[in-house]
Amino acid sequence: MSLLPLLTWACLRPPTPAPAPPEAPNTASAWVNDARGGPPIHPGASPLPAFRGVSRATARYVGSAACAGCHPQASAVWASSAHATAWDTLNERQRGYDPSCIPCHTTGFGHPGGFVNLKQTPELKHLGCESCHGPGSDHLATPDAPDYGALGVVDGACIACHTAENSPDFVLQEYWPKVSH
Ligand code: HEC
Ligand code: HEC
Ligand code: HEC
Ligand code: HEC
Repeated sequence: MSLLPLLTWACLRPPTPAPAPPEAPNTASAWVNDARGGPPIHPGASPLPAFRGVSRATARYVGSAACAGCHPQASAVWASSAHATAWDTLNERQRGYDPSCIPCHTTGFGHPGGFVNLKQTPELKHLGCESCHGPGSDHLATPDAPDYGALGVVDGACIACHTAENSPDFVLQEYWPKVSH
């Protein structure tokens, strides 16, 4: 049998499709428009604090380890905070793949370049720097550009996840000193 038909098929088949949206953890398959004007996001995506200075059209998530070399002090504070083990909290309760839990316990879930699952994006498990400061790839490329991840009002950076339901005891003056960097 000739190989020709096979080779012809291999050359003529359509180009590789666009990257698939986050799979397993999601129940719905469609992407929706982002109310904040960024690129389309997945239903049930991670809440986004009110950061500025990030081009949400191009920036992607890189993981907290990429920040440590230039921001050692902030990284040390973060590493010893509850945020740095947030996914483990779910995993210990067999909820590491529950789409109703992972938006607040991982980084950038349901956003372009954000957490998908443990296998594909292990560096984005837990609640990383970029959960508050926004996706960091542009900042890595041009660190001296001003204003990356500037958070104007500290309060707005927290209550996106520290909701009345999930964090009934939240008081900014008590919580911020525990994670301040
Ligand atoms: C190559 C070194 C480098 C890396 C890697 C880096 N940064 Fe920076 N970062 C800088 C420099 C330099 C500045 C100061 C820019 C300025 O003075 O305007 C800065 C400023 C910042 C600021 C302050 C913005 C403000 O309000 O002034 C934040 C927040 C920040 N970085 C977060 C991060 C995070 C999160 C990561 C990982 C995703 C990261 N950085 C990775 C060098 C780096
Ligand atoms: C809207 C964001 C959000 C969602 C969704 C969410 N959590 Fe959380 N979770 C938080 C926050 C914020 C805290 C910290 C609460 C505090 O200490 O005030 C927390 C704390 C926890 C803790 C306590 C951690 C500890 O060790 O003290 C557990 C357990 C937990 N979450 C499990 C879950 C599970 C299971 C789900 C899914 C059913 C879930 N979370 C969904 C935001 C969320
Ligand atoms: C829970 C949300 C949160 C996380 C997670 C977080 N940050 Fe921040 N970060 C903030 C807030 C809020 C400020 C602004 C503080 C202020 O207004 O004084 C800030 C400020 C900063 C600054 C500017 C400090 C300065 O002196 O002006 C840097 C740099 C920074 N963060 C880096 C990081 C890095 C690196 C990580 C991860 C290792 C990280 N942050 C994780 C919320 C966060
Ligand atoms: C993207 C979601 C998210 C954002 C934004 C966020 N947090 Fe959290 N935070 C969590 C989750 C989830 C936990 C629980 C982690 C665990 O124990 O597994 C938590 C836990 C904490 C804890 C530990 C509570 C305890 O009882 O030990 C403190 C303190 C805290 N957050 C402060 C803050 C502050 C201050 C801000 C704003 C600057 C902030 N967080 C922003 C999700 C978030």
